[in-house]
Amino acid sequence: MDLKKFAQDKEILITGGAGFLGSYLCEAFIEASAKVTCLDNFASGLASNVDSLKDNKNFTFVEHDISKPIYFENKFDLVMHMASRASPFEFDKYPIQILKANTLGIWVALGIAKKHGARFVYTSTSEVYGNPDPKFVPTPETYNGNVNPIGPRGCYDESKRAGEAFVVAYRHQHGIDTRMARIFNTYGPRMRADDIYGRALPRFIDQAQKGEDITVFGDGSQTRSFTYVTDQVEGLLRLAAMDEAAGAVINIGNNKETSILELAEMIKKLTNSTSKITFHPLPEDDPLRRCPDISRAKKILDWTPKVPLEEGLKGIIEWFR
Ligand SMILES: NC(=O)c1ccc[n+]([C@@H]2O[C@H](COP(=O)([O-])OP(=O)(O)OC[C@H]3O[C@@H](n4cnc5c(N)ncnc54)[C@H](O)[C@@H]3O)[C@@H](O)[C@H]2O)c1
Repeated sequence: MDLKKFAQDKEILITGGAGFLGSYLCEAFIEASAKVTCLDNFASGLASNVDSLKDNKNFTFVEHDISKPIYFENKFDLVMHMASRASPFEFDKYPIQILKANTLGIWVALGIAKKHGARFVYTSTSEVYGNPDPKFVPTPETYNGNVNPIGPRGCYDESKRAGEAFVVAYRHQHGIDTRMARIFNTYGPRMRADDIYGRALPRFIDQAQKGEDITVFGDGSQTRSFTYVTDQVEGLLRLAAMDEAAGAVINIGNNKETSILELAEMIKKLTNSTSKITFHPLPEDDPLRRCPDISRAKKILDWTPKVPLEEGLKGIIEWFR
């Protein structure tokens, strides 16, 4: 894929652009000679994530809550809707804001794409699959999910599902060129420091580095698939830039399934930690298995993850230090 060929002189709007993943996309598109408008309300993002871009003439930052309407003079070619708090520790504190970002927010973002005739990309999530039936692991995009709408994760899982329905409706009714990524657990530098309260991977690193107990929920046999940020960003850029992806919903994640106990042991070893691994009750509705079927990403985007877990962990452990 020739990103420069796609991006040169394009006007791109990225909502949630000051977040972990959004900031890498802002950088990649600026590097490829696009003009980028980053819209963010700093709900969970940081100005420092886009610090390197702030003096670039092709970069504009707009502080705004995307669940409220906004008017732009410039004409966008691509709108990427990434704005949403995404860490499980926020599901309890900010359920309404999460619901709004993925319903009212996507409605505002799609309205901008419609008015400007822009291509639209939505960063959905593997959480639309909920706690998948083991028969559907690795999980293909055709699996409709097993989600509890009234459980503690409902605000995120169901609003992302509603966001997907919005995208399909705008494509169907207004003929917009849309694409959706179902992103699986992604890690790497710029992950939020307070993700240690919501996600196992940064929590284990923090605990191991401090010599505290590494707290595994359940017996640790539940699985996740961990995607390094460079792989995820490459997948999202391909989804946004490639004509072949029009109309598609595509899993973007690592298809190597790792148990949470294996992850804890790997992090303990890589940090030379003396921490003990301890076991605690499993949170309600915690998915037991998470692993994508990535044949569609391979076929449409010619994308596969490149960074093995052990190598990626070394990168993020260093960054955490
Ligand atoms: N990181 C992952 O593993 C992962 C997995 C699945 C899906 N996703 C999705 O990818 C997107 C980016 O996730 P991330 O990991 O970079 O999270 P993040 O929290 O670092 O980034 C989200 C950004 O959106 C901004 N934001 C939130 N609500 C907003 C609002 N109402 N108006 C404007 N800005 C708002 C935040 O301030 C933040 O900068 C999210 O939509 C998330 O649901 C991420």
